[in-house]
Amino acid sequence: MSMRSLATVAALAGAAFAAPAPAKTTDVSATTTTLLATATNKAFGLNDAAKQAGKLWFGTAVDIPGTGEAQDKFYFREFKSPHDFGEATPANIMKFDATEPEQNSFNFTGGDYFLDVAEQYGKQVRCHNLIWQSQLPNWVNNPATPWTNKTLSKVLVNHVTNLVEHFGDRCYSWDVVNEAFADSPAGDYQKNVWFNNIGPEYVPMAFAAAQKVIEKNGLKVKLYYNDYNIESPGAKTTAALNLVSELKGRGIQIDGVGLESHFIVGSTPSYHQQLQTKRAFVREGVEVVITELDVRATLPPSAAEQTQQVQDYYDSVKSCVDVAGCVGIVVWDFDDTYSWVPSTFAGQGYADLFFQPHGANHPLVKKAAYDGVLEALTGAAEGV
Ligand code: G3I
Repeated sequence: MSMRSLATVAALAGAAFAAPAPAKTTDVSATTTTLLATATNKAFGLNDAAKQAGKLWFGTAVDIPGTGEAQDKFYFREFKSPHDFGEATPANIMKFDATEPEQNSFNFTGGDYFLDVAEQYGKQVRCHNLIWQSQLPNWVNNPATPWTNKTLSKVLVNHVTNLVEHFGDRCYSWDVVNEAFADSPAGDYQKNVWFNNIGPEYVPMAFAAAQKVIEKNGLKVKLYYNDYNIESPGAKTTAALNLVSELKGRGIQIDGVGLESHFIVGSTPSYHQQLQTKRAFVREGVEVVITELDVRATLPPSAAEQTQQVQDYYDSVKSCVDVAGCVGIVVWDFDDTYSWVPSTFAGQGYADLFFQPHGANHPLVKKAAYDGVLEALTGAAEGV
């Protein structure tokens, strides 16, 4: 599938919204390389286009409170934009270590603050996440007395119950279980503290505990399974599909699957692979969301890699646009300055839609990839 000319982006947006800007690509000088920046500058953004395409929102992860993001007025101004972002996902503040630092002693201050900010700026929230193997407090990882199936099950159910109850319908959805499946051997369960003590039953147990709160309190919050490397066909994707089918077969609530979509320039799954996978999940009776999209490159990215990144973003977003059951797209932060990539993959970065040529606390510049996303959102559906 080839991307239509970037020159059509402004024209498409401008057709529905006044003042189309001339589309051209501007060179923005950076220290090590010339980066392609967008020339579009209108009050019509990614979230506007996503909603026009029938989606709920275009969203972003944001790591507040307590990080540099909250203090960077240029970053924060862009985050607030209702034109670009109609959803916010807490990058860290609702995770287990932040919300239950000591056993049965819950701290909701940061999570409540996050929701206050999101609501103030009109953003829905995908709450993230309840049960995962990472970012666990020490009392879970190194218990004074070794866990048994019974004692750890109690911990799991207590955590899920308290969080779903506390945050209620302020969450559009919860990522109930995060990243339960391994890459190698692909589709096996990750051998983590939950699996090692409870077995695979920990996954249905978490969903059932959330469901119980929803039914008791009459909530609307949707329950998601969220993972990476399940965006194209393969053993791990099959495992996630089987999980959906198993939960549904047992009458346990699951409403959606989050396709993280952490991609690499040039090896991003194709439009057709992503389309096929989204359709497969929707056929199982769940909705899907692209939950953590970014496309990283080795630094500094060449001109060819920057152009490829535009295509990779386009293909990913377009595969959601063309599936009615794909209800939204979320990037895992929108500004390279605050991307998780460089600290995890040495020498890599350039993964997000904006960058700050002069660093934190300086103006943001949209990349050409931003135009690729906008074009995917504003282009006609492929008739799926
Ligand atoms: O909170 C401490 C702070 O007190 C300390 O000063 C600082 C020093 O390094 O570290 C802070 O914790 C860091 C935390 O982010 C908050 O910034 C952790 O070290 C760091 O490991 C943690 O990284 C997060 C990562 O998940 C952990 O696995 C990233 O921000 C977050 O973006 C990332 O998000 C995950 C999703 O939840 C699931 N899918 C993959 C995605 C990317 O890894």
